[in-house]
Amino acid sequence: MGSNNFSLPPSDSPSLILTLATEPERIQTWTLTHPMWGPALTLDSYLQRESYLTTVPLAKDGGITHWILTIDGLPPNERPILSSCETLRKKVIYTEDRKDEVKEGVAHGIGSVFTAKEFRGRGYASRMMTELGKKLKGWQGGVLSVLYSDIGKGFYAKHGWGVFESGHVEFKPEKSEGGETQKVKKIGYHELAELCCVDEKLMRERLRKLGREQKDKRVHVAIIPELDQMLWHLMREDFMTKSIFGEGRIPQVKGAVYGEKGKRVWAVWTRGYYGGLEKMEGNTLHILRVVIEDEQGIDETELMEGIRTIVRIAQNEALEWRSETVQMWNPDKKLKGAIERMGIEYEYVDRDKDSIASLMWYGEEGIDQVDWVANEKYAWC
Ligand SMILES: CC(C)(COP(=O)(O)OP(=O)(O)OC[C@H]1O[C@@H](n2cnc3c(N)ncnc32)[C@H](O)[C@@H]1OP(=O)(O)O)[C@@H](O)C(=O)NCCC(=O)NCCS
Repeated sequence: MGSNNFSLPPSDSPSLILTLATEPERIQTWTLTHPMWGPALTLDSYLQRESYLTTVPLAKDGGITHWILTIDGLPPNERPILSSCETLRKKVIYTEDRKDEVKEGVAHGIGSVFTAKEFRGRGYASRMMTELGKKLKGWQGGVLSVLYSDIGKGFYAKHGWGVFESGHVEFKPEKSEGGETQKVKKIGYHELAELCCVDEKLMRERLRKLGREQKDKRVHVAIIPELDQMLWHLMREDFMTKSIFGEGRIPQVKGAVYGEKGKRVWAVWTRGYYGGLEKMEGNTLHILRVVIEDEQGIDETELMEGIRTIVRIAQNEALEWRSETVQMWNPDKKLKGAIERMGIEYEYVDRDKDSIASLMWYGEEGIDQVDWVANEKYAWC
């Protein structure tokens, strides 16, 4: 529906509402967003992917919600979509000031914020974000929301999402002797369940410790790195590679694990494609999550060796699967130290425009009192 059939209300008009998109409205929105977010796919494949992504873990059973800003009182499918976005429900754990208790709630991941060209610059995305920020508080148990801005640090901060660390270490794809050995195994779907269970358990312990020890009234939050969280990325990846590489091709290697149980180091990864096969730019092997099983006890040399071995496998995979780069988001001090010493060329990138990790906290604390634990790629959507 074009803007000719009605007059456009100002962005502060009480006639504007944030509401749920119908199925035809979702398709209308996806058709518009295809050139921006699906250039590696045909329109048909992109529409299929978006529809498929409503059925996968995390998203199914009402996990994903498609929102639109429109004019109240007009019939669905005939009203203008003045701005749109989606939210994905994730589980989050958090600990409050000096409490020895890990609480659980919902984190909404916001994505695909979009205004059609003819409606831009009128304040509609701003109005939608203002409404959404309020709406998500408590919605489905929401205690926070996160988003990853591709338009710099200002826009979402103005609407209440605090800016968090947004850096990554980058490695180049490279062929090397990075195969499986007695000490390192590649991770496929079947290894993930156990690893995610261990990761979640460790994360809960880490938060409990942070809550108990803290002296600064901070709240510590972490999106749970559970299996469903990873599967959302991996099923999206499989859809993309089948379409881009053809013949139903799916990468089997979803990460690598080094060392013996109790002292393992592992990384889980996914491949994202914006360039397709013609243009490598935008094709990235993203390390979703890095886990050090015995964070306190691990020997520094062993950690370095583990990370080096894992990164080599990732570099090989990136080469094979046409990624331009390998990215590891926000490695902590210990991990950075290992990366610096391991002898693989890398670059540290402090992003200021793309994928700016942003968070709105619905508790009483101010955003500068929120400590986002494990601010890594797995939390992205
Ligand atoms: C970004 C977008 C959603 C803004 O929609 P809109 O309805 O025009 O937004 P508003 O009129 O409420 O606000 C426009 C603001 O966004 C800023 N903006 C728009 N595009 C921008 C960009 N690429 N980089 C930085 N800021 C941008 C404008 O400068 C303006 O800032 P102001 O509030 O200080 O004046 C729209 O331009 C769009 O759909 N772009 C393509 C998709 C996209 O990039 N989405 C964001 C993903 S994080």
